[in-house]
Order: sequence, then C-alpha cells, then structure tokens
Amino acid sequence: MDGNGRWAKRRGMPRTAGHREGVKSVRAVVEEGVRRGIGTLTLFAFSSENWRRPPSEVNILMELFMSALRGEVRRLHEHDVRLRVIGERTAFSERLQQRIAEAERLTADNAGLNLQVAANYGGRWDITRAARQLVADVQAGVIAPEAIDEAALADRLSFPDLPEPDLFIRTGGEQRLSNFMLWQSAYSELFFSPVLWPDFDASAFAEALDFYAGRQRRFGRTGEQVEALNAVGRYGRG
Ligand code: IPE
Ligand code: MG
Repeated sequence: MDGNGRWAKRRGMPRTAGHREGVKSVRAVVEEGVRRGIGTLTLFAFSSENWRRPPSEVNILMELFMSALRGEVRRLHEHDVRLRVIGERTAFSERLQQRIAEAERLTADNAGLNLQVAANYGGRWDITRAARQLVADVQAGVIAPEAIDEAALADRLSFPDLPEPDLFIRTGGEQRLSNFMLWQSAYSELFFSPVLWPDFDASAFAEALDFYAGRQRRFGRTGEQVEALNAVGRYGRG
C-alpha cells in the first residue's frame, strides 16, 4: 500500500493525512475481496524498515493501526473474516499487542477471507526466523540436517497454512518488492499500479485482478505443457 504521502503532499496536506485517507482504501479492498470470494489477502501496512521514518509519522501510523483495529474488527468478524497480523509484533506497545491478540482471538474460527496485516514485517526477517527455527529443530533432534529441503524451510515461515501469493499488487508507481514475502512470492504475478493508495478503489483493484486473469502461470513449465495440463484439469505447482 504505497503513495499515501504523495497523495497528501499533492493536496498541500501533511503526509499523515494520506495515511488517514488510506484506511478507506483498506476498507474498500477488503470489502471487494470478501465480495469476490478471495481466499487470502495480505496487506503490507508497515515494514521493518519503516521505523526509520520521523517518530511523529511512526506514532500516527501506530495510532491509526490501533483505531482501525478498534473500529473495524467487529465488522470484519460479521463478514466471517479471519484477521491475523504477520510480523515482529513485540516491537509494538503492550496495548497494541493486546488489541491485536484480541482481534485474532475473536476472528480465529472464521472461515471466510483470510486477512493478514503485515506490520513490522520483512521478508528477510521471515526467512531469518525460519532458519533460526530450523537450527533449533536440528539441535532438538526434530529434523536431520540432510532432511532440510524447501518444504522444511517454508513450513517455518509465518503462516505456513496460507497459499503462496498468486498476485502481488504494489500501488503508487514504484516497481519494487521492498522486502515483502520474498520466499513466498517466488512465482507471484507482479502488478504495479500508478494509482496512489488513497485513490485505490474497487475499480483499481478490478484492473489488477483482470491483469492476473490474463496471465498464464507456468511454474517453470512450457506453455504447451500448461495447456495440455489445463485440458485434463490437473494443473498445479507440483
Ligand atoms: C504508505 O505510503 C506506506 C506506509 C508505510 C504506510 P507512503 O507513506 O510510503 O507514501 P509515499 O510513498 O511517501 O507517497
Ligand atoms: Mg512510499
């Protein structure tokens, strides 16, 4: 979700006004996701590098996170959304951590949209943590070093129950991953939208989904193989 600051600057407003406006886009995209029956949606709200911003901006972002949790969780729950936070949450205030835990507990059994908010998240952090867990498991005799394969590492990333992202959308015109789900997005289709996040609405989202619908996903195979597999209906990653 990129472009809040620029959106505000263009209107002669402080950057934080853009963040406030961006909450509306979050609502619109989540609603559209629910409406379309999307299974999993992860929003990159705050990266492990965003702490480098001016403290006043970081504080506003934290407050917005708090108030959005307070204001939105009930409605998400009513829509059968399961909300989880992905990232190093121990860096947040006790109050925010508590609120996150409550929201996760409330929505834990919901079977609709899986909504992840990536907060203080970084793809390298995720992989590093998985590596640390692997070493601990080797030391504990849970897994032999020779048995470590891609699946063993993937199982130790955040939320191994979730599918890898099919579609990656970045708004605001920059064409970078910026440390988002580096392992999991190896085969994601990448969509870069020039629209600034506060202007990203259901129709901008639809454009990204249309782009995705037009992609042929080969996972290393040839186009001919994919077509043949599609014809017999057994196309997948395996
Ligand atoms: C939102 O957009 C991203 C967050 C960290 C919340 P930015 O704040 O990066 O906006 P730009 O890129 O300066 O326009
Ligand atoms: Mg930015």
